[in-house]
Amino acid sequence: MTTTGRPSPALLPTLGGDYYTSAAVFAAEQRHVFESMWFCAVRAGDVGEPGQFKKVQVGRESVLVVRGRDRMLRAFLNVCRHRGALLCTQPEGRVRRNLRCPYHSWTYGLDGTLVAAPNLSALTEEGGAGIDRRDYGLVAVALREWLGYAWVCLAEDPPSFEDDVVGAAAHRLGDPRAIDAYRIDTLQVGHRVSYDVAANWKLIVENFMECYHCATIHPELTRLLPEFAGGRAAQSSVGHGAEFGSGVDGFTVDGSPGFPSLPGVGTGQERRYFAITVKPTVFINLVPDHVIFHRMFPLAPDRTVVECDWLYAPDVAATADLSRSAELFHRVNEQDFDACRRTQPAMSSRAYRAGGVLVPAEHHIAEFHRWVVSRLGAPIAPR
Ligand code: FES
Ligand SMILES: [Fe+2]
Repeated sequence: MTTTGRPSPALLPTLGGDYYTSAAVFAAEQRHVFESMWFCAVRAGDVGEPGQFKKVQVGRESVLVVRGRDRMLRAFLNVCRHRGALLCTQPEGRVRRNLRCPYHSWTYGLDGTLVAAPNLSALTEEGGAGIDRRDYGLVAVALREWLGYAWVCLAEDPPSFEDDVVGAAAHRLGDPRAIDAYRIDTLQVGHRVSYDVAANWKLIVENFMECYHCATIHPELTRLLPEFAGGRAAQSSVGHGAEFGSGVDGFTVDGSPGFPSLPGVGTGQERRYFAITVKPTVFINLVPDHVIFHRMFPLAPDRTVVECDWLYAPDVAATADLSRSAELFHRVNEQDFDACRRTQPAMSSRAYRAGGVLVPAEHHIAEFHRWVVSRLGAPIAPR
């Protein structure tokens, strides 16, 4: 506030604390964000073989992503059509031909069709006196593959994948083809860490979008990308990528050389770091020799699991020493998530009832806040 009591134009208001703590807000986000938009679920290579499956939480639903015998990936709600038992309880696995419910053994093919139900001899294809098995297959969920990940959408009428997902990356980079240069679908997971973060998912998004904190909490990253010391976020302007400092040989924890650039990386992408937010739950970090890909799984108002993949050219992932390369962003992640953990408890303080403020280097976060409010349908009044 200025001395006149009016907000300073340099400082924009944030969302109020309730947005980060309220069960009602989180329930509305589950419905209107995670269950309505395209949600990045699994790395396709993690379910590479027929019969392999992975279970993921998408909003309130448990979703199975399964590789079929025809090698197609499909997604289903993880709910038996008989009396509703969870079909798969383990987080991942592989079956030979079928998914069998552990309760009464209704059995589904990898394409979701009901293929057997014990002691129900009248089960038929055509109906008649029995039941028609086609009416009792697993409930399918929309699935698209992009960048080597399976993205699922629980909406009955999914939004345009091209606009909402591909378009977000194109808009950020200013060129629809820029991300294709990294051939992310061909890269291999060289390193993966799953972070259990005691913070609301929006704090993690907001933190990723700004670099006002970089000089304070990211000494290694700021040494590599000197412009971050000034607080400028790589995401605040279209097409901008932060340039490596002179004397920096690679995107590694100590600036030592990394690996050869990915084959398609062009001159405008050499020696630069690009960051992309694909709402609601994905961050993509592009550097010349690898890609760091974050998927968030918001589990509660104050708990988010973040799975981070470090993706490399297959020969590098298989044979190279990745430790100095992966250590850089692991430190960045720990530094960021510690900051988010430290912020979460204060969200329920009276001091934050009406929220805080965004300085000019953070003004682009206001757009994210407007987007959240518009998805939920109405602003939430401070308690
Ligand atoms: S609930 Fe699955 S077979 Fe009965
Ligand atoms: Fe950060």
